[in-house]
Amino acid sequence: MSLFDHTEKPIGLASDHAGYRVKQFVARVLEERGIPLRDFGTYSEESCDYPDFAHPLAHAVEEGVCYPGVASCGTGTGISIALNKHQGVRAALCWTPEVAFLARAHNDANVLVLPGRLLGEEKIYEILVMFLNTPFEGGRHGRRVSKIPCR
Ligand code: RB5
Repeated sequence: MSLFDHTEKPIGLASDHAGYRVKQFVARVLEERGIPLRDFGTYSEESCDYPDFAHPLAHAVEEGVCYPGVASCGTGTGISIALNKHQGVRAALCWTPEVAFLARAHNDANVLVLPGRLLGEEKIYEILVMFLNTPFEGGRHGRRVSKIPCR
């Protein structure tokens, strides 16, 4: 499976301590393929608070500095909740490649969230590749996505 041909904007990364290993794994995969990234932390496995890293990544995605984002915490739940407080962010917690496919094709997700404590590297890789390689289908899904922001 090939990784998508992405060079335009850096991919934004963020995690807490429980997602740190997954974030480092994703960073390694991207770096090995020459894909630019920007790492918003955390930078070690020392205990920390996921919103401190979710919000800077969310701002970068909303402002168009990074696209897409990849984030991780222990379950993926806390960091997803924090990311999705931002109107311009559609963060999708994905645990299988099929969920990642649908998050891109139907929801135009702009941040992939991975559970740091629940999946092995092989599955993380498959999900990452699927997310990065799947385009948004648009059409009826575009209408639905356009109704998501709260006014
Ligand atoms: C940290 O222990 C853990 O609570 C956090 O990573 C995340 O799973 C919260 O949703």
